[in-house]
Amino acid sequence: MNAPPLSLADYELLAAKCLDAGPWAYFSGGAADELTLRWNREAFDRIALLPRVLNGGPGGTARIDLFGRTHAHPILVAPVAHQGLAHPDAERATAMAAAAQGAGMVLSTLATTSMEQAAAAGETCRWFQLYIQSDREDTLRLVRRAEAAGYEVLVVTVDAPVSGVRNREQRAGFRLPPQLVPENLRGLAEPHPSPKPNLDSIVFEHFMAMAPSWRDIAWLRGVTPLPIVLKGILAADDAARALDIGADGIAVSNHGGRTLDTIPATIEVLPEIAARVAGRVPLILDGGIRRGTDVLKALASGAAAVMIGRPIVYGLAVNGAMGVAHVLRLLRDEFEAAMALTGCASIADIGPHLLRR
Ligand code: FNR
Ligand code: LAC
Repeated sequence: MNAPPLSLADYELLAAKCLDAGPWAYFSGGAADELTLRWNREAFDRIALLPRVLNGGPGGTARIDLFGRTHAHPILVAPVAHQGLAHPDAERATAMAAAAQGAGMVLSTLATTSMEQAAAAGETCRWFQLYIQSDREDTLRLVRRAEAAGYEVLVVTVDAPVSGVRNREQRAGFRLPPQLVPENLRGLAEPHPSPKPNLDSIVFEHFMAMAPSWRDIAWLRGVTPLPIVLKGILAADDAARALDIGADGIAVSNHGGRTLDTIPATIEVLPEIAARVAGRVPLILDGGIRRGTDVLKALASGAAAVMIGRPIVYGLAVNGAMGVAHVLRLLRDEFEAAMALTGCASIADIGPHLLRR
């Protein structure tokens, strides 16, 4: 009999046994040599916490306010595509579990489940991750559907105009099974029609020619009242540009090490971005968060909230909605214990004074 999972790392070990080689490579892998994937974790492990004592008393809470809603804690479910590869209940199970644990959820454009069904499955599934489509009418259709389905925030992913070099997936021979087509894209133009073999450069003449630009963000800002979070910003100059163009939030992310390898760990660039943004919009950090202490370090470095990606699909693969709920519960309990043990009775008490880099 397997020992029951006690940590997010335990879920990863169990998921590796539950999943077939292809889906395992897709979920767990990073780009190329997977250095960024590793650095995301190592950078958290290099930071020590300096606790403060004797701050007990009633009224402690991990609550935060984000875009007009109160969240019970600052841990959100990151957008992760194709969750039908992990479990037949896919994003419906994830949405149900997120709601049960008071966690905000970001639904991927490339979800197995339609945005309407995911929103109906869990009342905290109210953020929609948008991949800007090559056809503006198609992008607008996705935005209008998200508005109609009750989504409250658009998370526009800007770090993946071409897909990363995914050697681990290639070695495993991973292909998306044809029955798992993303429901949200049904009826829209092919996002990337097959490149013509005689083109000089597949990257430039094919993918980049159709990839989004700052102009598309300015356009999007003009067509929807929903708050826009740009996901995948690592340079402070890009963060400043995002604010100039009217972004309402920034997700400091390297796509979990899946796009360009050797870009920095997110927790390392967060302080520079926080200094430039200076509290004007909330920062959300993801990449390598596996412990409650990681959540605390992210908030102490300037994040308003965090997102977790892979641990969610590992929980889903191991035990469906129950697994996702347990993953979220474990991380929230660890985070609240870390707050208590560093003398923080509320999120406002968390700050850089707790860190020793
Ligand atoms: C992702 N991520 C992602 N991001 C996004 O904006 N849209 C998407 O569809 C996906 N799909 C996706 C699939 C898989 C299998 C993974 C692992 C990740 C990136 C995700 O939102 C997040 O940035 C990272 O997963 C965070 O890193 P951790 O928590 O997985 O280390
Ligand atoms: C990925 C894409 C779908 O990381 O964002 O797999």
